[in-house]
Amino acid sequence: MKERNGKRRVAVAPVDEFPPGARLEIKVGNRSIAVFNVKGEYFAIFGLCPHQSAPLSRGRLQGTVVCNEHTNWEKEWAHDGEVLVCPGHAMEFDLRTGKAFGYGMKLRTYDVIVEDDWVTVIL
Ligand code: FES
Repeated sequence: MKERNGKRRVAVAPVDEFPPGARLEIKVGNRSIAVFNVKGEYFAIFGLCPHQSAPLSRGRLQGTVVCNEHTNWEKEWAHDGEVLVCPGHAMEFDLRTGKAFGYGMKLRTYDVIVEDDWVTVIL
């Protein structure tokens, strides 16, 4: 773990060993963080489900149907590959924001950068 500008950085994996579709769970102290490569974009989210602590790094990634004022109240497929489904009881989380679909809760998300050819989570 490195520190720069007052922020801790955790090197997760070399970029060439973390291709699209890859995922890892890392531990930082007693904190679990799930890291994903979705179509070349990296995401990191708190790694334990707030319901019964299932490991979110093992969750399925999918999209979801939305219907709201932005879709003119028509059903539309959205967030393709960015909806993380808890392997415990299928609660769904937006990988980008950490928000749970249909529930008023939000998981912490973390910035992910590539630094010196390593996928790196900023804490
Ligand atoms: S442990 Fe995640 S929904 Fe129950």
